[in-house]
Amino acid sequence: MPVAVQMHPSHVKPVVADVAAAGGKVADSYLAHVQMHEKAGYYAVQGLRSVFDYFTGYGAQMNERQWLARFLYLESVAGVPGMVAGMLRHLRSLRTMERDHGWIHTLLEEAENERMHLLTFMQLRNPGLLFRASVIAGQALVFNAYMIAYTLSPKTCHSFVGYLEEEAVKTYTRAINDLDAGKLPKWTDRQAPEIGKFYWRLKPDANMRDLLLAVRADEACHIHVNHTFAHLDADDTNPFSPGSVQLP
Ligand SMILES: [Fe+2]
Ligand SMILES: [Fe+2]
Repeated sequence: MPVAVQMHPSHVKPVVADVAAAGGKVADSYLAHVQMHEKAGYYAVQGLRSVFDYFTGYGAQMNERQWLARFLYLESVAGVPGMVAGMLRHLRSLRTMERDHGWIHTLLEEAENERMHLLTFMQLRNPGLLFRASVIAGQALVFNAYMIAYTLSPKTCHSFVGYLEEEAVKTYTRAINDLDAGKLPKWTDRQAPEIGKFYWRLKPDANMRDLLLAVRADEACHIHVNHTFAHLDADDTNPFSPGSVQLP
């Protein structure tokens, strides 16, 4: 069956390779937050993460079920910004009757990529009614807040997503480290879900570790894309070709 090539470089590409080589640590260049929109994005992410971690009981002793709850919720949110930004740029192009300079597809690809993270993890846990209700409430909040924020300052929003993705890389790195340390025994010999094997073109016997590495590579890609967009003006050309698996 043919598969659409998405911007998810699960293969060796500069940023992804750097992140992997550093044991999941994000390169220092990405941690600099100098300009105003970068500071706003950075501190918004740090604040939100602290509150989210506190209320969801994120800690040193996480079992497989708790990790999946975290992955599922965060991925259900992570799929929103790319879709909102893509939608807003699409609408802007329609109403101004001017071209978009190639951003829309990259943004939609990011949204789809996050949705595939969600659907893959859904093969491992089926959340209950309360969880699903909180996803709906979260989506209503995030969709509207992000739409307003993106209308006001796209650069701040891309910085925000760039730093958010850095947190995602840290989170997946911790899960991988927990797996390696034997703290997640149910995943030690567990095969990756078929949908994930197909989407990332993993080997037939790919396991949970392979899956987590592939997802983390995607998040590293989103860091690079969003920090790049955060330094472009709305009328600049998108340096990422739609459908590309190469990072500029
Ligand atoms: Fe994700
Ligand atoms: Fe992401």
